[in-house]
Amino acid sequence: MKIKVWQEEIMITYITTPIYYVNAQPHLGHAYTTIVADTYSRFRRLCGHNVRFQTGTDEHGDKIVEAAEKNGEQPKEYVDRISGMFRDTWPVLNIQYDNFIRTTDADHMATVQDLLQRVYDKGDIYFDEYTGLYCKGCERFLTEKELVDGNCPDHQVPPQEIAEQNYFFRMSRYQQQLIDHIKANEDFITPERYRNEVLSFLSEPLEDLCISRPKSRLVWGIELPFDENFVTYVWFDALINYLTGIGYPDDEKYQTFWPVAEHIIAKDILKPHAIYWPTMLLAMDIPLYKKLHVHGYWNVDNTKMSKSIGNVVRPKELVEEYGLDALRYFTLREMSFGLDASFSSEAIIARRNSDLANDLGNLFSRSTAMINKYCAGKVPGAIFDEKDRTLLDLAGKTVRCFKMEMAAFNFHKALQAVWEFIGYANKYIVENEPWSLVKDEANKARLDTVLYNLAESLRLLTVLVRPVMPETAEKMAGGLGFDLAAPEVNLLDEEKFWGLTPKGNVLNKVDALFPRIDVKKKAEPEKRKQIEKENFSQDGLMTFDAFQKFELRVADIVAAEKIKKSDRLLKLTVAVPEERTIVAGIAEHYSPDEVVGQKVIVVANLKPAKLMGVTSQGMVLAAKIKEGERERLVLSSIAGDVPAGTRVA
Ligand code: MSP
Repeated sequence: MKIKVWQEEIMITYITTPIYYVNAQPHLGHAYTTIVADTYSRFRRLCGHNVRFQTGTDEHGDKIVEAAEKNGEQPKEYVDRISGMFRDTWPVLNIQYDNFIRTTDADHMATVQDLLQRVYDKGDIYFDEYTGLYCKGCERFLTEKELVDGNCPDHQVPPQEIAEQNYFFRMSRYQQQLIDHIKANEDFITPERYRNEVLSFLSEPLEDLCISRPKSRLVWGIELPFDENFVTYVWFDALINYLTGIGYPDDEKYQTFWPVAEHIIAKDILKPHAIYWPTMLLAMDIPLYKKLHVHGYWNVDNTKMSKSIGNVVRPKELVEEYGLDALRYFTLREMSFGLDASFSSEAIIARRNSDLANDLGNLFSRSTAMINKYCAGKVPGAIFDEKDRTLLDLAGKTVRCFKMEMAAFNFHKALQAVWEFIGYANKYIVENEPWSLVKDEANKARLDTVLYNLAESLRLLTVLVRPVMPETAEKMAGGLGFDLAAPEVNLLDEEKFWGLTPKGNVLNKVDALFPRIDVKKKAEPEKRKQIEKENFSQDGLMTFDAFQKFELRVADIVAAEKIKKSDRLLKLTVAVPEERTIVAGIAEHYSPDEVVGQKVIVVANLKPAKLMGVTSQGMVLAAKIKEGERERLVLSSIAGDVPAGTRVA
């Protein structure tokens, strides 16, 4: 809490996301962390802070080389391409970062080398032989204790035993200092469960950290300044991005922003951020970052997102499907920061239709419609009335609660508070019945006051939802006739939270904020997509399972007749071995007499369909031969005497 007060006083914010590995394309998990950082930056800006928001890509290491090789590309060409995909994704999510850092940037690489040299000169890096259990996925050696059934807990594969000479960072030297720091600063790692996890890990002796790879094994990395035969291990490279991105050591930005650095990560990279990074900083004689905010994992339909399961959700597709602000709102409202959450199409549609269309959307459209109708689209003046005390008090409470929860990264609670206010404002309409007040001129002053309070509620809501849903806030401000850039309306001040809408403000017409998504319509293409996914592999080929669903059988044609009024169709009676009717489009090629007695192949499990009034229970297979403009059909047949009903597979 102490830190919070101090931060508030100096009004500077430096917020970072992890720099994402370029061995995978951006997905919902990356999107979430980045939306959080963007929302927090916008919130802080709204509170008057000087904000710097940094994201970027992590581009060295064997995982990257492997991914490049798989794609038949050179590492540089590959990292440029995937890093570009991250940069292209963020504007689609309305992410406004100040700096995008890449670990292949020359100035980053130079600073990493300077810092390695400094730690080496201090005696905190030494050369040693090491035999350990190395997990390629984690890009680190694992301890026996970390394994689950002999496997890496994150990648579910056994680590490889590797013996090699390497450089080590004397992390153990800083263990006690780190424990003391965490204990003295309760906000250093939040939520508390992760702080406890780190302290529990630190209750055992800390091993030193291997920070190099011999060039014989990996060249795609930053060379150690004190040994050209080695490159540095990815974490010693990657973590330093938080410093190089603000121009450490000489740039003024470093002086301004480093003292207030806040990192956002998910639980997967807790150890590198809560243990390696602070001990590295201690060894480098650089003050520790201020806060580490740790969130949980997004699953999809309660299942871990994974390429092999094929359930990886792409942010751009989500925006197309559900809308940008609905996605931003959903992720922040649905996940309790720190805990895991599950994404599903039903969940996001439910939030959009209920919270956004019903609650916020309706409040906006009803209130503005009444101001248009009863006051010719001009916000009337208000006379304060005791009856409005609850609305005003709740508005003040909402602003205070929103600010407190946003600052504490409890985004779902901040939004809950806002929606409580929306709920009450909707109730305020019902209780005050403006449609009844308008009927009697004697109630004019009261009507004006009620409508003013609704306009003012919407103005306040515009500011409150702005960090989470910037596009919607623009639209609301447009409808309410505000310039969002105007400082007098655009603030989150516990003292000046009410009465900022000037009397006579002219409303503008805007479309519905959140048209409802028709669940049924949405479900159809989804279902089709699902069926397609089940039946076809990614290259468009049918899966064996899908093929097995076809029931092909040998059939004897036992009777045939022409269907009246059709030149094309014959009604066939076939035995498979039970008799059934099949309508076949072969009348232009075969007479009924010609086909009776033939053995053909039929699709026996086709859904029945009516053709010229006759129900067809299957389909006869035939070859279609193109002869110039015309087509000739030749019925399928089977060599040998095969009983009717025999399955063809
Ligand atoms: N390159 C390292 C980080 C170095 S930071 C100095 C790395 N990259 S990563 O691409 O694997 O990104 C991990 C981060 O992506 C997580 O910490 C989190 O921010 C985000 N997420 C990836 N998958 C996620 C979920 N399924 N759910 C939520 N966030 C997830 O680790």
